Amino acid sequence: MIVRVDGEELVTESGRTVAGLLLALGRVSWRTTRGGGRPRGVFCGIGVCHDCLVVVNGAADVRACQRLVRDGDDIRTQDGAELPA
Ligand code: FES
Repeated sequence: MIVRVDGEELVTESGRTVAGLLLALGRVSWRTTRGGGRPRGVFCGIGVCHDCLVVVNGAADVRACQRLVRDGDDIRTQDGAELPA
């Protein structure tokens, strides 16, 4: 399948989470915190902490550790989060 990560087109296999794909690419962070812009990536890996938020197909606050990559996905780094403090 073909996906885009921050505008770069990549070929990847199915059954992989967005976080798994990003980690395989060598990325350890893909969003920043609202207060201070500190880098975040996977922390819990089970959908609880919301540290791994990313933009997928224009939708913000997608948990990368819970979302399986789908053909044609457009995955983008997220600046901050829309979730309540
Ligand atoms: S790493 Fe904690 S919700 Fe994804």
